[in-house]
Amino acid sequence: MGSKLRPTEVTACTNIALIKYWGKSSLRHNFPAVGSLSLTLKEFTTKTKLLASNNSKDVFLLDNEPMEPPEVERVLKLLRAVPRRPPVHFSSSNSFPTAAGLASSASGGAAAVMAVWAGFSQRWEFPRIVQLALEFSGSAPRSLLGGFVILEPHRGRRRVEVRTVPSPLLEQLRVVVVECGKERKRILSREAMELSRKTSPYYSAWVKSHKSDLRAGLHALEKGDLEQLLEIMEHNTLKMHALAHTSRPPVIFWNSTSLALLHLIAEKRRQGWLGGFTLDAGPHVKIFTDRETAPRWVQLVRELPGVTQVMIASPGDPPQVIVEGEVWSWQEMLFCT
Ligand code: PMV
Repeated sequence: MGSKLRPTEVTACTNIALIKYWGKSSLRHNFPAVGSLSLTLKEFTTKTKLLASNNSKDVFLLDNEPMEPPEVERVLKLLRAVPRRPPVHFSSSNSFPTAAGLASSASGGAAAVMAVWAGFSQRWEFPRIVQLALEFSGSAPRSLLGGFVILEPHRGRRRVEVRTVPSPLLEQLRVVVVECGKERKRILSREAMELSRKTSPYYSAWVKSHKSDLRAGLHALEKGDLEQLLEIMEHNTLKMHALAHTSRPPVIFWNSTSLALLHLIAEKRRQGWLGGFTLDAGPHVKIFTDRETAPRWVQLVRELPGVTQVMIASPGDPPQVIVEGEVWSWQEMLFCT
């Protein structure tokens, strides 16, 4: 008998890395060369609905449009894990700009894997779910959990582990997400990081020095030292972008608005404002700060030329899974058996 599908809806939050991953040790398994540390963001979500298809064909939609071939391929690869499945109607929508460096692949991947797991009642254990999310995107396993999350690769065993990191900073932390333009990405992060691995003279130094950044980030989180956390986050961010800048051909994700913001943030910090920046594979700047200071940053940056939107995000939860209209306590199912 084939696998039966129950109508399922999953909402997963995206995450932003404070200590980044950049580069893979295995392309085939999408295996990261370094670990990473992230914060899950409540207000930035992907909602994925998985239903039986009305006709005999699979349908894949993203934000109500047919999905692009590389995305379809990622979902199809995931669906191959389900034996003898019926055709599906798979639709995802993001609450924020897709593929612009705002980590839609993280929430998209986590939502897709959870939807397939729950909708097809697969008996996967958490490590398998993590593995499938990783194959979807390197940052997706971190969106399977809430709050601060660490992802650690275990090369010998060819698997990654994700876990939540408790911190006294969680309640007070806010992220001011500054959208610097509406342009779509020109290069995918997986292509850009492969280019860095192959051509940047700094790649081996990045891998070598990464563990101590991760340790410093963890230490700051555990102690509740926000200033120290922001310092190591900025340092690690600039190292990642230095790899991109020194690739051949170079990859520069920033635009002039991003750069103006980096200078403005440094200037305000000299005046005593609390905040630190990070950027991913796109021009948008995320300012990590606390609850009290976040509205001041919003006031400051919202009128800057080139800024198209500013949002405050707070720490987010693990995915919400609804099967046949019923909310699943999936963590109890996966972790307490
Ligand atoms: O999840 P991917 O494979 O698209 O790569 C994400 C890479 C960064 O966002 C730049 C860093 C990170 O750790 O999230």
